[in-house]
This record gives sequence, C-alpha cells and structure tokens, in this order.
Amino acid sequence: MDRSCYCGEPRKTDEGTALTLAGWVHSRRDHGGVIFVDLRDRTGLVQIVFNPEHNHDAHTVAGDLRNEFVIRVKGVLRPRTAETVNPELPTGEVELMADHLEILNTAVPSPFAIEDDAHITENVRLTHRYLDLRRPVMQRHLRTRSDVYRITRDHFESHGFLEIETPTLTRSTPEGARDYLVPSRVTPGSFFALPQSPQLFKQLLMVGGVDRYFQIARCFRDEDLRADRQPEFTQIDLEMSFVDADDVMAMVEDLLKKLFSGILGLDFGAFPRLAYDEAMSRFGSDRPDLRFEMELTDVTDIFGQSEFKVFRAAADGGGVVKTLVVKGGAQMSRKEIDDLTELAVELGAKGLAWIKISDGEWQSPIVKFFSEGEKEALAQRSRLEDGDLVLFGADSFKVVSDVLGTLRCRIAAARNMIDPGRFEFVWITDFPLVEFDEAEKRYFALHHPFSAPCRRDEDKLESDPASVKADAYDVVLNGIELGGGSVRIHRPELQSRVFKVLGIDDEEAAAKFGFLLDALKHGAPPHAGLALGLDRIVAVLVGCESIRDVIAFPKTQRAACLMTTAPSEVDAAQLRELGLKRA
Ligand code: AMO
Ligand code: AMP
Repeated sequence: MDRSCYCGEPRKTDEGTALTLAGWVHSRRDHGGVIFVDLRDRTGLVQIVFNPEHNHDAHTVAGDLRNEFVIRVKGVLRPRTAETVNPELPTGEVELMADHLEILNTAVPSPFAIEDDAHITENVRLTHRYLDLRRPVMQRHLRTRSDVYRITRDHFESHGFLEIETPTLTRSTPEGARDYLVPSRVTPGSFFALPQSPQLFKQLLMVGGVDRYFQIARCFRDEDLRADRQPEFTQIDLEMSFVDADDVMAMVEDLLKKLFSGILGLDFGAFPRLAYDEAMSRFGSDRPDLRFEMELTDVTDIFGQSEFKVFRAAADGGGVVKTLVVKGGAQMSRKEIDDLTELAVELGAKGLAWIKISDGEWQSPIVKFFSEGEKEALAQRSRLEDGDLVLFGADSFKVVSDVLGTLRCRIAAARNMIDPGRFEFVWITDFPLVEFDEAEKRYFALHHPFSAPCRRDEDKLESDPASVKADAYDVVLNGIELGGGSVRIHRPELQSRVFKVLGIDDEEAAAKFGFLLDALKHGAPPHAGLALGLDRIVAVLVGCESIRDVIAFPKTQRAACLMTTAPSEVDAAQLRELGLKRA
C-alpha cells in the first residue's frame, strides 16, 4: 500500500509534489460542483479538492463519500488561494488536487462527531472507544503514554536494570484490595489470583541475584473505583539490591524529572521531603497538595478548659481542635458554609464550627462561648485577619485530618487558588509501619507487610507497634500519590515478627507466604524498591482529571467494559468444566 506521508504533514514547501494520501473522510463539502474533503489520520487534517474539470472520475467517486469512509487519493499538492488559507491548520496553506480516488472502506454514520469538543457522554465514548480514539485529544494521550514507556525504558536501561515479566496467574499479593480470582480447570476448586502488584516476585528476583529489576506491569485490584483508580492499571515497578531508601528515591526522582522535561520541557530541582507526621499535622493528608498554602493549625491547648463543650471534649478525650483559615472566606454565603458542613459530616465530622471575621467583628454561632483569652490566643495562633473564614475540626486526630485536609483541597479548587501550570513534587517519608483498625480490632500494614521497620524502632515492634516507623516513602505530586515504596525486610525472623504483629500466625504465614520466608532463608540481599502509577503520571502530563482518558480501553466506575460488555455470563459447560456452580 503506497502512501507518501501522513495527512498532517504536507506544507507549502512541498508545493507541486505528487502525493498519495490515505485516511478517513473527516468532512465533505459540495461547493456547486467542486467537492472539498478534509482527510484525517492520527497526525491531523489536509484538504483534498475534487474538481470535475480537473478529473471527472475522481469527482464522481467523491460524490459517494460520507464521513469516516476510508479512502486513498493521489494528486498534486498546490497552494491555497489567499482567501482560502486556513491559519488554524498546520496544512492550511495547501490542498491536494485529486487525480485519483479509491474507496478502501465505507462506514455507517458515527454516533458522534470525531472532534475534540464533541459533547458526548463518557458512556457513549466508551461503547465506541475505537471512534473515540480517533479524536485528536485521545491520539495525543496515547502518544504521550507511549513516550512515557520509551523514556522509562531508556532510563532503566542506562542504569543497568533488567526488564523482567512476572506472572499474571499467581497467588494473592496483599496490597490492601480484593483479589480478582481465576478458577483452575486442572485443579478444580483452586484459584489463581491476578497480581495486585509484582511485589513478591520482584523481591524473589532480588534473592535470585538479578540486582536491578524493572517492569511496566499490569496490576489488578478489585476495589472501589474513582477517577484515579482502575481495576486494571499499570505500574512502573522497580526493585534494587544492596541499596537504601535514598538510592531508590534518587533513581525514581531522576526518572520523574526526565519524564517532565522530556514531555513538558519542565525542569525541577531536588524534590522536598516531608515526614508523614508533619504532612498530616500541617495538611491533614499524607499526599499534600503543595501548590497552595492554607495549612491547618493546632489550637487544642487553647481550648482545653473552654466553655464550648465540643472543643473541650475533643481536647479532654485525647483528640485535637484544629483550624483551617480561608482568606477572604468571610464573604461566603450561609449556603456555601452549609454545603461545607454537609461535606464535613459526610467525611465523618460531627459538625463544622466556623467564625467569619468582617470589619473587626467575629460572627459565629460559637464565639459567645469563648473567653477573651481564648479569642486572643486563637487570633494569634491562627494569624487571623479581617476577611477570614475560620473552620474548626474537633475530634480524633484522624477525623480532623481527614475532614480539614479534604476541605482544604476542595476550597482551594472552588476558590481558584490553584495555578494549573504548577507542579509541586514532594517525598513523604517516615510512615508508620502499621495502623490500628478500630472496626476489626487489629493492626494493618500501612504499605504492605513486606516493608521494613526503621532499624531504631525494631525492638518496639511487639511492645508498641503503632509507634514504629517504616523505612517507606511515597512520591506525591499536586496532591496525587504517584508512587510508593520501601526498604524490604530481608531477614526471615523479622518478617515472621511483622506477620505476627499483623495477626498472621506461623501457620497462616507458612501457607500464604512460605515461599517468601523460605527464599529469605537462602541468602536474601538487602533490597528496596518502589512502584509508580503510570496511568496517573500520564494523566498529569496531559492535564486530564481521569486516568480513564489515558488508558486505551478502560473500565467504567462499575468495573465493566462497555465496548466488549465484559464481564459477561459464561456457558454452563464452561462452568461445569471448572467445577463451578452458579450462585
Ligand atoms: P501501591 O499499592 O502504593 O504500592 O501502588 C503503587 C502506585 O500504583 C498506583 N495505583 C493505582 N493506579 C490506578 N488504579 C489503581 N487502582 C491503583 N492502585 C495503585 C498509585 C500508587 O502510588 N508493591 C507496592 C510498591 C512497592 O512497595 O514497591 C505497591 O503496589 O499511583
Ligand atoms: P452544637 O453545639 O452541636 O450545636 O454545635 C455548635 C457548632 O459547632 C455547630 O456549628 C456545629 O457544626 C459545630 N460542631 C459540632 N461538633 C463539632 C466538631 N466535632 N468539630 C467541629 N465543629 C463541630
């Protein structure tokens, strides 16, 4: 099949050249005898002219063209007349005068126009994803994604990493989500789990002497879906031997810098670091958005003896009282504050006390309970000024952080406090190793059970697990967790102790992770690694909210594929063969 170039390529300098072009009919206009066709491929549009006086046959065939027909045209490139030049198009100064037209395929009418600003629902786009992908914006996203793969592979290649595939049919790898299971036909009643990450295999590769591994790995997690989560997603996964946390962080930071400079032309200095406790206390989040200030302030000590029962109770009960100050927020209407209160309650707060400061007056349903001393101390601590809206959280540290941390981001977005052209990377370090789950009355690993406790905290593992820090780190950009990793446990005794803290006894550990514990006994080197969410990185690079827009064939929020209608029922015979019964 001959084709001289892509549709988006012809320029004025090519004037007079004979070209063969192929693509899709983007539009057809019949101007009293002369037919104009915009021909499209993944690079753009070019105008084709069918003039009956120039070539009668080609013009006749052009009469049958409809949008999205696939054609090949031969002709000679000529300049457009001054008044028909289209400055919007890179090819807008030229057009192809057609000598020959071949229809390679017809097309039924499309359910939507193939344009960037086609107003279509996501469901329609996903049902006809192959048409959606023809839109220039989606082509750009796929191109950027492909660039990310290339830069990533070059980076790891240049640092001596091996790219290795790990199994998709495997055992459960605990990353905190539900597993997708695949029944085994050969061993009825047994199941494979699709990997939530390659975590265990990459550690086993280190035991296997690979030293430096990376993979662009597909991971599967059956969890509640949101704009930044898919049931099937891609990680840039890496692991290194004989290194510490700083080595891994440097390797990843360098890759992220290359991605942002290679794709957006932006250069960054060293990423700042913030300890988990500090991030939580200042921003109410372990993935703080540092593009704007508006930090939380602890005022617990000020209200320890307060007449305002809500605050005193929080302080007495080991909780905290914190403020979030919205500059200029005193202008907010009652309705806006009610909406914030509703959101706070949804997030687990019992209410949302507030004060508006306007013309030196403190308007609030609660200031009447405050003493002069409390007011003064509050004004000083939270640096209150005229025009401020002060929001309060009074509850456990966790609830107050969740509530005020979320409100902080929502308010900043709603009040246009965020510069969309700004990128603020930050490393979060010193995570707790475990977290106590009140509902289940047991400890859970904050990352996963294979992260190493900090050396200095090892002997508190049994006596005070909640105080133990992990040698773990997350990389965060603009409030998005891009990736996380840790130094791993490489000594089997320590791994068994951590399993015990997590309520996994020897028997269960042997059944689920016996192969890992065995491997650790065979001379496991010290090792550490990290995984980045590739979909999230691409979404930030192209500036879109949802990772669905950077995945060629994503699933809906209900974990379904609208195009193939997966998941679907299967034959009774297939179930029988697998030894399964319909519920
Ligand atoms: P973690 O579970 O933090 O760590 O995952 C690493 C990164 O993967 C991305 N991510 C997701 N992206 C889209 N959809 C999802 N459902 C989803 N879940 C996670 C996030 C996240 O930061 N094995 C460890 C890494 C390690 O310790 O080396 C792991 O998987 O960007
Ligand atoms: P109440 O005394 O319950 O009527 O509450 C008085 C004000 O305090 C209302 O504006 C509530 O929204 C707010 N409030 C109640 N409980 C809390 C809490 N735990 N944290 C912050 N504000 C609260």
